[in-house]
Amino acid sequence: MTNEQNLAQIGVVGLAVMGSNLARNFASRGHTVAVYNRSAGKTEAFMAAFGETGNFISSETIEEFVASLERPRKAIIMVQAGAATDAVINQLADAMEEGDVIIDGGNALFTDTIRREKEMALRGRHFVGAGISGGEEGALNGPSIMPGGPVESWESLGPLLESIAAKVDGVPCVTHIGPDGAGHFVKMVHNGIEYADMQVIGEAYQLLRFGAGLEPAEIADIFAEWNKGDLDSYLIEITAEVLRQVDAETGKPLVDVILDAAGQKGTGRWTVKEALDLGIPTTGIGEAVFARALSSSLDQRAAAQGNLPTGALKTFEDLGISREEFIEDVRRALYASKLVAYAQGFDEIQAGSAEHDWDVDPRDLATIWRGGCIIRAKFLNRIREAYDANPELPSLLLDPYFNGELKDLIDSWRRIVIVATQLGLPAPVFTSSLAYYDSLRAERLPAAIIQGQRDFFGAHTYRRIDKEGSFHTLWSADRSEIAVES
Ligand code: ATR
Repeated sequence: MTNEQNLAQIGVVGLAVMGSNLARNFASRGHTVAVYNRSAGKTEAFMAAFGETGNFISSETIEEFVASLERPRKAIIMVQAGAATDAVINQLADAMEEGDVIIDGGNALFTDTIRREKEMALRGRHFVGAGISGGEEGALNGPSIMPGGPVESWESLGPLLESIAAKVDGVPCVTHIGPDGAGHFVKMVHNGIEYADMQVIGEAYQLLRFGAGLEPAEIADIFAEWNKGDLDSYLIEITAEVLRQVDAETGKPLVDVILDAAGQKGTGRWTVKEALDLGIPTTGIGEAVFARALSSSLDQRAAAQGNLPTGALKTFEDLGISREEFIEDVRRALYASKLVAYAQGFDEIQAGSAEHDWDVDPRDLATIWRGGCIIRAKFLNRIREAYDANPELPSLLLDPYFNGELKDLIDSWRRIVIVATQLGLPAPVFTSSLAYYDSLRAERLPAAIIQGQRDFFGAHTYRRIDKEGSFHTLWSADRSEIAVES
């Protein structure tokens, strides 16, 4: 039902949970919201449940839906990523006019977003790929939103998105990230960081549970305590909740009856694939993605259990450390590893931005990730301050504040990596992050050997530390060195 007097400021296509919640969020901020879903049953169910809670205009066809929107029309697509998104984009573009804005709020691969933006620009439509984080709850009450696309579209879209975004100190958790695929790229890396953040929390749990022998409820208390300090974050907070939960059926801690095989929908994997292409070592995110894959290799794990030699392991008691000291060491190792994951994620965003000429400002990300999204954390204020003080920071780890923190963390971090190894407990992100850290600060890396090997077997040449140019040693002749034109 539409009439000229009552047009919607925004439309939502796709009324599964995320789409419904986003539509309700817009309506709760006083906007009139057009809603449409491919199968009309879902639209009817939505209107029956929420039609009275705000101003909604429902439509049964995409043409009717488009006609119910104010110009320039703005419609957010919240359907399955991939072919469904393409189908809906084309239906909307057919029904829309020059200057109208199509927003994809799903987790699209940023290269698809770049392609779609080009196709839509040729048809005179603005296409905005917007990453939306915060899950169902965030979509309803205030997500963190990362829109890309043409800057002109931000003028009309910005105020609408600002109205529904989470707010921290009155600042909305949304800003225009950059052209075409910038928003979805940044959302992808956000999710990659989320993977690493979740994994380091998991590693801390594993050490406290199976190293120090603490019960889930005790660890819940520890996490709740950590949540009051440097680690204050949504993920730490919900981990305490998960650990406290008791299974109604068995009376056991829920964490003990959940199958330990982690799922994934792909954004972590994309982050790592892209990092490989950009040549950015996002080792923390990579280990986190692999840890999920390993956890899900159930047959292989079953075959290996009890069948791989462990060597001489120590027990926690053998180590002669106090529980209190150990708990604090674990906290510090978690914090340090988390810092590395963020530093690497920001490196990837800056490399992606340079590669695609997006001009993404890292300060914006630190600002809009402080609320609404899954990795929201107090710590992001510090990241913002770090880039405010030096926008050209070569690595977050070199910011004076974080550098000072690392001074306090490093000894604990090393101890935990040693202890985890002695106990035979895997801590892949703690361990590889420390290797990254030691590699980054090393005066000499074994890469000189690799260059020597490459020159030996493939005449790939090497550079020298003491003069310009490329060189090759005549390995199979007299082993003299020649300068090579590069
Ligand atoms: P969730 O995981 O929350 O269920 P999803 O699978 O990402 O959500 O998306 C489901 C939404 O995509 C639904 O609104 C679905 O429409 P139907 O209710 O008609 O199934 C929509 N969707 C999927 N494929 C679509 C297509 N080809 N065209 C239009 N909408 C489509």
